[in-house]
Amino acid sequence: MLFTTELQDVLFFREHEAYVRFKEELDAKYPGSYEVRAAAAQAYRLERIGSREGFIARMEDYAQNGGADVTEFVPLRREDVFEALRNGTAENGAARREMAEGIAGGWAMHLRDYGRAVNYADNLAILELGTGAGMGTWAVASQLRPGSVLVSTDFDPLCVKNADGIARHLGLQDRMTGLLANFRRLPFADASLDVACTHYALDEAREVPAILDEMTRVLRPGGRFILCARVNPWDRQKKFMEPFGIAPDECDALLKRARMHCGPEGLTEWAARAGLALLDRRDYTPEHSHARTVITLAK
Ligand SMILES: C[S@@+](CC[C@H](N)C(=O)[O-])C[C@H]1O[C@@H](n2cnc3c(N)ncnc32)[C@H](O)[C@@H]1O
Repeated sequence: MLFTTELQDVLFFREHEAYVRFKEELDAKYPGSYEVRAAAAQAYRLERIGSREGFIARMEDYAQNGGADVTEFVPLRREDVFEALRNGTAENGAARREMAEGIAGGWAMHLRDYGRAVNYADNLAILELGTGAGMGTWAVASQLRPGSVLVSTDFDPLCVKNADGIARHLGLQDRMTGLLANFRRLPFADASLDVACTHYALDEAREVPAILDEMTRVLRPGGRFILCARVNPWDRQKKFMEPFGIAPDECDALLKRARMHCGPEGLTEWAARAGLALLDRRDYTPEHSHARTVITLAK
């Protein structure tokens, strides 16, 4: 991934360029050694943030003064473009399928239901927010109904081309594409789409209320938003919060204050403010800590 997202960007929003440079140097120094990179990044955060007070002060500073779009500071490099193109192949699409089918039979049993909820009728214009690794994209694309089209967006070209790989693998190039876009400025006209969906991407995005407003803008009246998100944000954030003595029951309030994913209740509340009503909610509590929920809302 080219961009760091959400909590790291929040904590380092005043030093974003330096933080990205640090991560790039780390990647170059220890390629293929995730544990070493993770430990070095943790040490960097501990050193820069310092204490529980420092952590909370940074969150509060962002809540009051943050919000700028980090993509403005991270231009694409030549090698990123070539790497992204490699993700657009049918071979990569087949690899995404294998990965998605592997988890859909195991801890991510919600994936098929997510795809089914999105494809609730024929002839739908569907927008996906956050291609990422393409697991949700696979779930939607593999169940695409007659006449429907799918545009999968991400601001990371490496991720967005996973959607093109899946389209090639499925022979769906005439009805499906990846599109480089920022959720905060979607390149669609008002009320132009039938369905918007996101699998696990609002968990890792910043400025979630603004994104929900923007997504609602492009949805037609009566259009649906299918949202799949972690039930418990602490699962993802504890590695950043625990070292500073933040307790699990403080997590949601801190995230909410900084306008980040703060559990299904927080998301549903923000969605209601954006003009979306709850149609359905299904919770999954597999053994795996990444328990998720699939929520269907309508404009
Ligand atoms: C966890 S991944 C999504 C997982 C993916 N849907 C899947 O099922 O494999 C989150 C993605 O959201 C993207 N993202 C986060 N904030 C964004 C924004 N404001 N605009 C566009 N993409 C964003 C990130 O680049 C990342 O690829």
